[in-house]
Amino acid sequence: MPASVATKLLECNPEGLETAAEILRQGGLVAFATETVYGLGADATNSAAVADIYQAKARPSFNPLIVHVADLAGVERLVTLNDTARKLAAAFWPGPFTMVLPLRTGAGISDLVTAGLNTLAVRIPANAAAQDLLRAFGGPVAAPSANRSGRISPTTAAHVMAELDGRIDAVLDGGPCPVGVESTIVGLAPQPTLLRPGGIPTEDVEAALGQPLAQPDSAPDAPTAPGQLASHYAPDAQLRLNAAHPNPGERVLGFGDVPCDLNLSPTGDLKEAAMHLFAALRQLDAAGSGPIAVSPIPDVGLGRAINDRLQRAAAPRP
Ligand code: TXA
Ligand code: MG
Repeated sequence: MPASVATKLLECNPEGLETAAEILRQGGLVAFATETVYGLGADATNSAAVADIYQAKARPSFNPLIVHVADLAGVERLVTLNDTARKLAAAFWPGPFTMVLPLRTGAGISDLVTAGLNTLAVRIPANAAAQDLLRAFGGPVAAPSANRSGRISPTTAAHVMAELDGRIDAVLDGGPCPVGVESTIVGLAPQPTLLRPGGIPTEDVEAALGQPLAQPDSAPDAPTAPGQLASHYAPDAQLRLNAAHPNPGERVLGFGDVPCDLNLSPTGDLKEAAMHLFAALRQLDAAGSGPIAVSPIPDVGLGRAINDRLQRAAAPRP
């Protein structure tokens, strides 16, 4: 990919889908809508294409990426599933759910996708734009969120353009992302372990498993997910969390029936709040530079994913 390209904005119709699939076949980069956030996609078997993802995002290190496929047959070609993995696959795929599973030898996935690990993060997205693109392309697509490294994840095609215009070949516009936070990531090595809270509530995963999820060993120097880095998803403005009342000069990102500048969900609906979270942070950034006080958000269900993202957005910047 040249340093600056004219980024095409493609409509999600048969012509746009075929153009997007052809760009992927040629080793190019296409951002596309999933139900969680927009992903920056490349052919997961093409190391040069995957290397371009890191360059376009200005991601400092080669962290492992999630591979997206259209169906379970596609998953089975890449990884091995035990009974637990099959149970979770049946419960949550297609959907906002990712599993880290043993990579099959000869699966053909670039080492840049796995960062040399013998496991692979895989996901079957549910939304139509992602499904149609994966079927048109016909192979595994590696895709991290389509933002510059460390910044707010995009939930509309316009957000992607604001981040990556001129750095990627195309954006396939699938409309706003209905879930709004990234997928829940579960590792099975071999204990079912929560690697990242996300679009499937942790409680739902534990109910499907019939047992609690383990928490990853805390190894702050060796995060297995960039989403586990302390500062991530960061707006320009400073955030203050669990703020029952604003301090002078603060703007308020509200939740529930509170006076505020912008409300994630006036009725206190966590699903609605997750859907609006990243767009709200962008909107507040665009509207001014003063600090943002964020209302308390219950730490249950999707609230755990929302609080996880807010804590990283509020963390001291490197
Ligand atoms: O909703 C999502 O998951 C979005 C959409 C585009 O699908 N994708 C996404 O990808 O958030 P990304 O690359 O930003 O985050 C994937 C996370 C990374 O933090 C990575 O470290 C972790 O998954 N991961 C990938 N492979 C792994 C592996 N083999 N072991 C442990 N963690 C892994
Ligand atoms: Mg990301």
